[in-house]
Amino acid sequence: MTDAKHYGAAYLSDTGDFLKNIKMQSYEPFAHVQGGVILDLGCGTGMDAINLADMLKGKCSVIGVDHDSVLIDKAKADAADRDNIRFEKGETHQLPLEDQSAAGIRMERVVQHLQEPDLTFAEVYRVLHAEAPFVVVETIWNSLNLYTGMVETEQKIRNYLVDTKVNNGFAGNKLTADLARHAFKNIRIDTYCMVVRSLDEANRYLFLERILSEMVEQDVLTEQEVAEFSAGLLAADKEGFFITSMNIVIAKATR
Ligand SMILES: C[S@@+](CC[C@H](N)C(=O)[O-])C[C@H]1O[C@@H](n2cnc3c(N)ncnc32)[C@H](O)[C@@H]1O
Repeated sequence: MTDAKHYGAAYLSDTGDFLKNIKMQSYEPFAHVQGGVILDLGCGTGMDAINLADMLKGKCSVIGVDHDSVLIDKAKADAADRDNIRFEKGETHQLPLEDQSAAGIRMERVVQHLQEPDLTFAEVYRVLHAEAPFVVVETIWNSLNLYTGMVETEQKIRNYLVDTKVNNGFAGNKLTADLARHAFKNIRIDTYCMVVRSLDEANRYLFLERILSEMVEQDVLTEQEVAEFSAGLLAADKEGFFITSMNIVIAKATR
């Protein structure tokens, strides 16, 4: 597993705009919370924690937790003028909170990076109030389609994303079962199809060219396979029929 980081602060802001609709859907279960602390775990640059703090101003406070100090520093700077939010550097499986002390927990595109996701699900269960909402947004990496016609190469790319690129590549596929196993209740799931229609966007949001060169370095694809594949992508882009799609899920549950 490489789980090589591809998400700097600029990437997270960029994908934040792209995923705006999904993010808005994921806030909905927290709209009815009347007080207490809401956590955004693996909060990155803090944009969702900030949106939640603004949405719940006067009712709730928000804590963003992430183990990356660069991202936490940016989040702190961006939230400096708000008084119902704070950010803490920490691990999702070791939260500095009492049992049943949180009024809601959200995680977006984080479970895929966890080596031992069960530890985090158990920790979330420990700190949530009874009946409090837990929302998880995840990528379905093996749903990536590039519509090049080179299906064997596409299958190798999906396998690489799932098996090598992240620690827990089937996180989204396993989400409802994981939540049920950890005794969460009222589990619901929705799926959204993300579509990009240019090679430029596929490189911005999915790091396509970078992934292809990593796969050559790791002997998963030959240079010739990548050259043929890239020519197909370029031709589709030039002719105006380039399309890439991938599903993202939002699972909502309560403790
Ligand atoms: C793809 S980013 C998503 C960030 C943010 N949730 C968003 O949607 O913009 C994954 C984030 O999870 C954080 N992360 C990964 N594993 C973590 C862990 N064990 N504890 C805390 N944060 C973690 C990373 O540092 C990164 O900020």
